[in-house]
Parts: sequence; structure tokens; C-alpha cells
Amino acid sequence: MNKNFLNLKDLSKKDLENIIENSISLKKSTANADLLAGKYVALIFEKSSTRTRVSFEVAMNQLGGKASFLSVADLQLGRGEPLEDTAKVIGSMADGVVLRTQKHETQNTFASFSSAATINGLSNLSHPCQVLTDLLTYFEENGSIEGEKVCWSGDFNNVCYSYAEAANIFNFELHVACPKEFQPKIKALPNVTFTESLDEAIDGSSLVTTDVWVSMGDENEKEKREQLFSDYQINPSVMDKASNKAIFLHCLPAIRGQEISEDLLEDKRSKVWTQAENRLHAQKALLVELLK
Ligand code: CP
Ligand code: NVA
Repeated sequence: MNKNFLNLKDLSKKDLENIIENSISLKKSTANADLLAGKYVALIFEKSSTRTRVSFEVAMNQLGGKASFLSVADLQLGRGEPLEDTAKVIGSMADGVVLRTQKHETQNTFASFSSAATINGLSNLSHPCQVLTDLLTYFEENGSIEGEKVCWSGDFNNVCYSYAEAANIFNFELHVACPKEFQPKIKALPNVTFTESLDEAIDGSSLVTTDVWVSMGDENEKEKREQLFSDYQINPSVMDKASNKAIFLHCLPAIRGQEISEDLLEDKRSKVWTQAENRLHAQKALLVELLK
């Protein structure tokens, strides 16, 4: 049976740890040019992307396989061919399919009709490939995340949802600082605490992270969000309240002057450029795990 990666919990903790370990080996070595020889991955994206698209394309290329980007507008899917039929047909030819979709449900449907491994390259619900990369980056910088306090500031969005899953799997304490109105209705998530106070969430945290206040698809709430999230900006003096070993991560793209200050990405605690490059290494190890 093919393995899918629609959420972090689709893989065991051991598999995820192996992927992180393998990402580090693949990052160090260039002698892997035929690891995925003969394998083909299709990328079907309903939304914009820089990092996810490029990292998967380069990963397949460097491992000896092939990837192609299929915009929905160019597929018959864009002219009304059913998703189920598309999934069956592409799944009968490809080894893997990376999907970036408006609705998470589209990913579930695709995966259940496709015999190729389905990988979530972002949905409205979650962004597991991103958080896998963040875990890799944290591990490289600070070692094990188990028992650590992690601060998420801002919207409880797709990236934050995958952090909540990671907190459960890897046993760290996720503190989400978020206006009441944007906190999820069901708050009983293992190892996740919600607060309106950024000071409370950041105090003693060894990983501080945030994301845009207006995700793709939320544009109709732009003004309201920019107003309600304005107290949740991370800047160097806010970072001073975190642990002295704290690093800052951001999945990117970022809006300087909103969720982060103009100068934060260049602060010595910011590891965002390493994190962005790590998308490539994590994607390679994930592809090897799913397609091998
Ligand atoms: N972080 C991330 O997924 O970036 P892209 O939207 O550029 O793929
Ligand atoms: N939360 C953001 C992440 C972009 C990588 C969005 O969904 O737009």
C-alpha cells in the first residue's frame, strides 16, 4: 500500500525521526544522484508557491527522478474532469503527487483514488512538509525538542495546526498566543496551550515562530486580521523574553512590519534562511521514505 503524507500523524514518530536524520545525511552528501532514478512526481497546485514547488522539483532532479508542475488551469481538471478520475489516472502513472489545495478534503479524496503517494504541499488545514522542516532546523540548532517550550504567535492557521500535531508526537509544549476570536473552538489538543498573552507564551521558549496574519484564502478578512493581530508582532526585544538559546523560525513568505519587525530576519537568533534551504533536504528525505 502506498504511504501518504497528508498530515504529520500519517507517519510514525520513528519514521519522522528517520526522515530528519536522513535529511541531515542528504544535506551533507552529494552522492545520491540515483536514489530516485526512474521515479516521477507530479505537482498539482491550486495556490501560489515558491519554496514548496522549487524544493520538490530540485529534490527530484538531484535524486535522479523527475517532477513536473501541473497547474490546475492546464489540466482537464480545470475544465471539469472529476478529481476522482484525475487521481486514478495520474496515480496509475506517477509515483508521487504533491498537492497544494484550497480545501483539505480535496487531498483526502485525491489520496483515496490515487495509487501514487499523496503529499500535502499545504491545505487550508495543515502544512506538514513545513513543520517537518522546522523540526529538522530546530534539531540542527538546538538538539532534541522533547520537553521544550515552543511559542507560536498569531493566527492558528495551517502551519500552526501542524505544530500542534508535532507537539503531540514529539512531546513538546506548544504555547499559542492568539486573540480569543481566532483561537479554535475545540481547544483540547494534547500539549497545546492557548493564551491571548504573547509575554506568557514566549517566556522561556526555545523556539519562537509565527506566520502571516492573512493566509492565502483569508484575504476577505485582511483589515480585521491586521487590526486584531497587531499586538502579536515578533521583534528583537520580544525575542529577548524567550530562552537565551531561543531561535526564531518563519515558514516564509513574511511581511516585514506586520508579524515580524523590519530587522528580525537578520537578527542572529533568526534561522529562517537555513530553514528555507532545509525545505530541500527535508523534501528529499520525505520522498525517499515515501517512494522507496
Ligand atoms: N513556506 C512555504 O510553503 O512557502 P511557499 O508558499 O513559497 O511554498
Ligand atoms: N499560512 C500561510 C502559509 C504560506 C506558506 C498560507 O496558507 O498562506
